[in-house]
Amino acid sequence: STIDSSISPLKPVYEPKDSSAPRNESPQLAKLISTLNLQQHIEGGYFVETDRDTNRVPNPFLNTSPSASSHEQTTFYTSTGAVKADLGNKLTDVDPDKNKNMTADSTSQDETRNASTSIHYLLTPESPMGAFHRNRGRTIHTLHRGRGRYVIIHADEVMPSYDTHSAIRSKARVETFIVGQNVEKGERLQWIVDGGKYKSSFLLPLEGEDAADNNGLLISETVVPGFEYSDHDFMRIDRLEALVTKEQADEMRWMLRK
Ligand code: GUN
Repeated sequence: STIDSSISPLKPVYEPKDSSAPRNESPQLAKLISTLNLQQHIEGGYFVETDRDTNRVPNPFLNTSPSASSHEQTTFYTSTGAVKADLGNKLTDVDPDKNKNMTADSTSQDETRNASTSIHYLLTPESPMGAFHRNRGRTIHTLHRGRGRYVIIHADEVMPSYDTHSAIRSKARVETFIVGQNVEKGERLQWIVDGGKYKSSFLLPLEGEDAADNNGLLISETVVPGFEYSDHDFMRIDRLEALVTKEQADEMRWMLRK
């Protein structure tokens, strides 16, 4: 089913299904999924790892000092300038049993990381949303085909903001943009998400396209240093509500992993 997204850009166009619900991809998308050997991703959508550099680099996220990881450092913008502080939002290692395709026993404390990894990532009308999560590594995204919206919560850039009771709260900057071929209209072919920022994405139709005929959003992502589950975690409802205003949390809670 489709929903009118003209009211708010953050409304889904294609309704996400339960992760256990059967998926009825179009013949074209089913063929693409099998040709590229894509698997279901725990964030939603489909992926395949296409490269893992065997060259290893020192793990830049090792806790050599108490707040060495970018996840733990937040910049507060105040009238007197930017202040860095530890918000205590340390990334906790995810339960490896929950994750398929896990590489051998990586932990946040490993001395080294693969220099880079790359994946293909696909959103379809049957799996149209990549749930809010963050990675410690920096991710370079490149569009191949289709159209979608990205939402970035800059958890490391926090500003004073008034809530509905006029109390001042520190809230993170929220950014959203469309990825697509129409560069003249500001759609992006390439986008970078720095480590520590929360990201979600959802499928949009091409302009003039019938939502029913959507052939998916296909991109590539390269993570530096290489992806590990121990550098990855999902946004949770309590953290979303702490990071953004009540109104923004209400608009975005559908993009949380179910
Ligand atoms: N395995 C599960 N998710 C991912 C991912 O996002 N990137 C890579 N490289 N491997 C994964």
